[in-house]
Amino acid sequence: MCESCLSWYARCVAPYVVHAGCSAGTFTQMRRRMIPRAEGIVVEVGFGSGLNLPYYDAAKVERLVGIDPDGTMLGLAEPKSRALPFPVDCLRASGESLPLADGFADTVVVTYAFCTIPDPEAALGEIRRVLKPTGRLIFIEHGQAEGRRRRLWQERLNRLWGSLAGDCHLNRDPLRLIGGAGFHLVEQERGRFPLQLWQLGSHHAGVATLVARPAS
Ligand SMILES: C[S@@+](CC[C@H](N)C(=O)[O-])C[C@H]1O[C@@H](n2cnc3c(N)ncnc32)[C@H](O)[C@@H]1O
Repeated sequence: MCESCLSWYARCVAPYVVHAGCSAGTFTQMRRRMIPRAEGIVVEVGFGSGLNLPYYDAAKVERLVGIDPDGTMLGLAEPKSRALPFPVDCLRASGESLPLADGFADTVVVTYAFCTIPDPEAALGEIRRVLKPTGRLIFIEHGQAEGRRRRLWQERLNRLWGSLAGDCHLNRDPLRLIGGAGFHLVEQERGRFPLQLWQLGSHHAGVATLVARPAS
């Protein structure tokens, strides 16, 4: 495909493809289990089209800030945000540079976005910064498959998949990224995707807290 067709696809088609894909039942089941655990001031990084919104527990959430650089995705999220009983701010910004004060959030939620964020290590550094010392990161991600053959196919398909699915990477390891950024996994579970989504590899969900940095 030519460069201008690719960029047209990325701007005008990919957001709707990603929204439709991320609405599948296998993702919804995980959202239903993990998202009600968010509490206090919540920041959702890689907010997308707001597919987690129906699962927040209004009795626990004080305020939600959704961050995403893609205006089309935020446009899909905004009408749903207005219907909620707690304040929701949709901010067009990147996870690598969060426009929020240090220690702002009780909970940061990231679902199926460490696969897409261009610099996930930098985004995790920002998440560390905006979380209160007692705060929690709740995540749901996909990543490297368990078997060697599947991982090889993920590598082979990675570029093509990325250009169709909004720059999603098949070959990242979210647990390694989160652990490497100074988080302690206090809960984690690993599942598999249904056969038609085998290329997404392992399905991870969990809760992580900050590991205290040694005083310098
Ligand atoms: C696969 S979608 C997932 C959306 C949503 N979290 C969900 O669970 O449906 C990945 C999202 O990450 C967003 N994204 C891409 N680059 C980003 C960045 N630098 N910072 C934050 N989000 C980013 C995309 O715009 C997209 O909305």
